[in-house]
Amino acid sequence: LGKYYMHKLVIDSTNNFAKEIASNVPDGTVIIAEEQTAGRGRLGRSWISQKGCGIWMSIILKPNIQPKEAINLTQLAAISVVKAIEEVFHVESKIKWPNDIILNNKKVCGILTEMSSEIDKINYVIIGIGVNVNCDNFPEELKGKATSLYLETNSKVDRKKLTASILNNLEFYYNAYLQKGFEYIRPICIEKSITIGRQIKVIANEGEIEGKAVTIDNNGSLVVETKEGKRLSIMSGDVSVRGL
Ligand code: BTN
Repeated sequence: LGKYYMHKLVIDSTNNFAKEIASNVPDGTVIIAEEQTAGRGRLGRSWISQKGCGIWMSIILKPNIQPKEAINLTQLAAISVVKAIEEVFHVESKIKWPNDIILNNKKVCGILTEMSSEIDKINYVIIGIGVNVNCDNFPEELKGKATSLYLETNSKVDRKKLTASILNNLEFYYNAYLQKGFEYIRPICIEKSITIGRQIKVIANEGEIEGKAVTIDNNGSLVVETKEGKRLSIMSGDVSVRGL
């Protein structure tokens, strides 16, 4: 990954730019920006991407997998960020399924996966990763929810070092996943999950579901047990975890 690499000073959103070029660049192309003027989060939210303090990057992947398996790529990115934070900061962060990285109960990183596909084939997947690394202030409305690695650990690091570690880990897990399947990744997703074992509420396509998150299944879906004892597999959705 990252053999084909582009660095921008200012851009609206690395995911937007990635979309424009995705058809004409190889698998593993990486786009990094110092600042985003219209950074996007999931569910149409915006993502604050101040100049020079975070990692705002998008990775273009062209795996030969089914469109419904794309959720696994988000999970690969999530475990890669957790491993990289461990390597560089020596602290353990956790994954709020499927795509938020949480440290000390606050969010330090978000992942926005977007894809172009046909019925049974992926054209490309864009994995947008935003990590709050050295940022030292957040707008009032995000305080208590968002934080940075610097604010939590008191150490400032070279963003290049963390970026390289994320990409190295992602390359390793991406290859392992393509060769061995999600089974290989699943135990790590479970081990690093902050969601499993907790009461959650999910706004999913199926409607609102409340229950206890019990595991992540072989497809990468979150398994939720409702009060009535029914087990449901959720492929995607907006999850709120009680206590977070
Ligand atoms: C979320 O938590 O809602 C996802 C946030 C994803 C932010 C990253 S920053 C790089 C890439 N470009 C974007 O516009 N968004 C993603």
